[in-house]
Parts: sequence; C-alpha cells; structure tokens
Amino acid sequence: MCKPDYFKIAYEINPWMNINVPADIVRAKEQWEAIYNTILSLGVKVSLIEPVEGLPDLVFTANAGLVHGKKVILSHFKYPERQPEERYFEKWFSNHDYTCYKLPKGVHFEGEGDAVYYKDILLLGHGFRTELSSHTHIGDITGKAYKSLRLINPHYYHLDTCLLFIEALDLIIYYPGAFDYEGIEIIEGLPSRTLRIYEEDAGLFACNSVCSGTKLLLYKSTERLADKLNELGLEIIPLDTSEFMKSGGSVRCMVLTVSRSKRSEVRNQKQQVRKGENF
Ligand code: ARG
Repeated sequence: MCKPDYFKIAYEINPWMNINVPADIVRAKEQWEAIYNTILSLGVKVSLIEPVEGLPDLVFTANAGLVHGKKVILSHFKYPERQPEERYFEKWFSNHDYTCYKLPKGVHFEGEGDAVYYKDILLLGHGFRTELSSHTHIGDITGKAYKSLRLINPHYYHLDTCLLFIEALDLIIYYPGAFDYEGIEIIEGLPSRTLRIYEEDAGLFACNSVCSGTKLLLYKSTERLADKLNELGLEIIPLDTSEFMKSGGSVRCMVLTVSRSKRSEVRNQKQQVRKGENF
C-alpha cells in the first residue's frame, strides 16, 4: 500500500475524475488509515511504498504490476500522467528481491487492476487501459492459462472495478454492464457461482472490495446486496472511500497482493445462490 500524502485530483483520466471536485486530503488520510488498520487487524502483513510528491495516483498500488511468486510483471500505464510511477514501483520490487519483467515497448498493462487470479487461471481485462496484446505475454511469463475479457463501459475501465472473485465461497460477483456479450458468456461459463449486480451497486464500486476469507472490506452497497452477501456468509466491513472514489478508485485499488495464502477452504453453499443470480 502507499500512504495518500500527495493524493489529489490533478488530472482527468477516467469519467469519475473532475479537477473541479477536489479530494479532501484530511479525510483521504483518515480513510486510508482506516483501511490500513483494518487490513492489519485481519492478520495480513502490509508493506508500504514511499509516497512521491507529484504522483497523486501512486496510492493505487493495485496498478503497480502483477505479482506471481517472486516474479512481477511491471505495469506500463496508458496515460502519461501515471507513467512516472513506473520507475518507483520497479525500484520497490527490485529492492524486495523480485524478478522484474517488462512488456515489449509501448504495450500498455495496468497490473492487478486488470488481472484477477481465478482458480488455476487468470482473468485479464482489456479495452481501456490494458491492451489485449499484453495478455499473451502475461500468460507466457506466469505460465498460466488466461481468459481475456473486454471492458466496454468507461466507468469500469479496470477489471477490478467490475469483477470480484471470492475464493472462500467460490463466487464471482460482477457487473454485466461493463462487459461485452462474449465476456458475459465467458464469465458465466466459468465453474463457479455468479452473482450479477446492478448499476446501483456497481457505481458504488461494490466489486472493488478486498476479501480476506469471508470478510469483505467494502465501501458501500445497497441494502439489498448487503443482505444477500450476509446471507451468503460474508461479513461486511464497511470502509469509507469517498475521497478516493473521486479518483475512480476504492478499497481494492489501494492494495496490491504480493503474496497469497494457500487456497482457502471452499464452502459448499450451493443452495444459497443459483448460477447467474441477479442482485
Ligand atoms: N485515478 C486512477 C486512474 O484512473 C484510479 C486507479 C484505480 N485503480 C484500480 N485498480 N482500479 O488510473
């Protein structure tokens, strides 16, 4: 994670950002501390990267790259505004003994923002930030099979804004309005239960949550979705991210997974949600 010391809305590179709607830095710092402390309280170890003045979006560390064991595929940001972050992330990874991989020159890829570990494969987004041509390289470097999902709605410009895999429940929560028809077919064809959320919850970045076991660190959702998630066995930990939402990011964007525990126990709750249930 990265403290939001220099966080602000300095430019507009997604539809959520408006330089005339500034972030309140005091609130942003409080919100970030609450997320950090909550993650620590779950027994998760958190490493920090130093904030850098002039790089307001460095706080969104999910975009640093994609970690696979001690390998990392470094991001190459689409927008020049974020490209200066690349060398700081690279430095952090080299200092922490990662083998750094870079994609061929000019190929854009925005890290875990567009890559979700799903069982033995990767789900990779493309369309707004990450280019489809990066996917074969990611497959080669990680040695993993992958499925490419095209994003079509500019409000959901990274895969982690519209799809979340909850391993402990073998459940995929996603917003169909962010994907093309083929993408929806791919998601529905995966061997997991799916919960399709409506725009109301997608717009609150319900998919941009962090899940640890069955605890879900989430900004906000409608009561209807919260009830459903509770019924499924998830314990919601609400965390205000209002200031970061002004930049088009929520809890998930502020965390990069650098190591993961052994596959958590998959609970059999098949009765509680049918395949492709709408919520
Ligand atoms: N303002 C940032 C951008 O547009 C937000 C990044 C959100 N990160 C994420 N993983 N979805 O790049």
